[in-house]
Amino acid sequence: MQPKRTVIMISGRGSNMAALVEAAAEHGHPAKIVGVLSDKAEAPGLDYAARAGIATRVVARADYASADLHDGAIDEALEELGAELVCLAGYMRKLSPGFVRKWLGRVINIHPSLLPLFRGLNSHRQALEAGVRIHGCTVHFVTPAIDAGPIIAQAAVPVLPDDSEETLAARVLAMEHKLYPRALRLVAEGKVQMQGERTAFQGFRVLRESSDRALFAPEPDTGVVDVESLARFTP
Ligand code: GAR
Repeated sequence: MQPKRTVIMISGRGSNMAALVEAAAEHGHPAKIVGVLSDKAEAPGLDYAARAGIATRVVARADYASADLHDGAIDEALEELGAELVCLAGYMRKLSPGFVRKWLGRVINIHPSLLPLFRGLNSHRQALEAGVRIHGCTVHFVTPAIDAGPIIAQAAVPVLPDDSEETLAARVLAMEHKLYPRALRLVAEGKVQMQGERTAFQGFRVLRESSDRALFAPEPDTGVVDVESLARFTP
């Protein structure tokens, strides 16, 4: 099977983009990154993409009279690049309903929270304010409502008692870099598909013996918050 032609959309740093590019460069990966598109000419991620030999496109909002026209130009760029899949990786702009409808089931996004909790901006601050003991990240299909589409995959991390937004964000980001390439693989292989408001999963083996494992934060017996315990859940 030909690898799925995938375009990554960014607005900034592009660390998730780099994780996707690196993973897809592995031999036999089911996705091929054919372009990186940004709405910001100054996005640092563009340099990385260019150095990696990937086509880059800047489609700046300021160059278009309306959000619909901007998304129309993005759509054109995606068609030109021959995109079959689109990964939003820190693309910080809402996509218009018409664009989302056209690409429905083919655009995925990563959000730094365990959705449906803490949608929108400042998800780490929201998590700290809510006092949750477990936080994480989610890859989901993009629908017109922001951060609300069918969930594909999630990864959880503990919240430590002395966490700041920065320390928590860094712990989640490290997990994002593991989760997003795995989720892209599943979508590109056709093992997960958007079906209405849910994600349909195909060909998964369930190991019942491990279904009683959980990430405890803090560990109920010891009261310890054990960041290393994550290793037991992430092969
Ligand atoms: C990531 O944490 C990503 O989950 C988040 O922006 C950051 C981008 O970092 N995305 C959102 O908040 C989207 N709602 P990166 O540019 O280094 O990948």
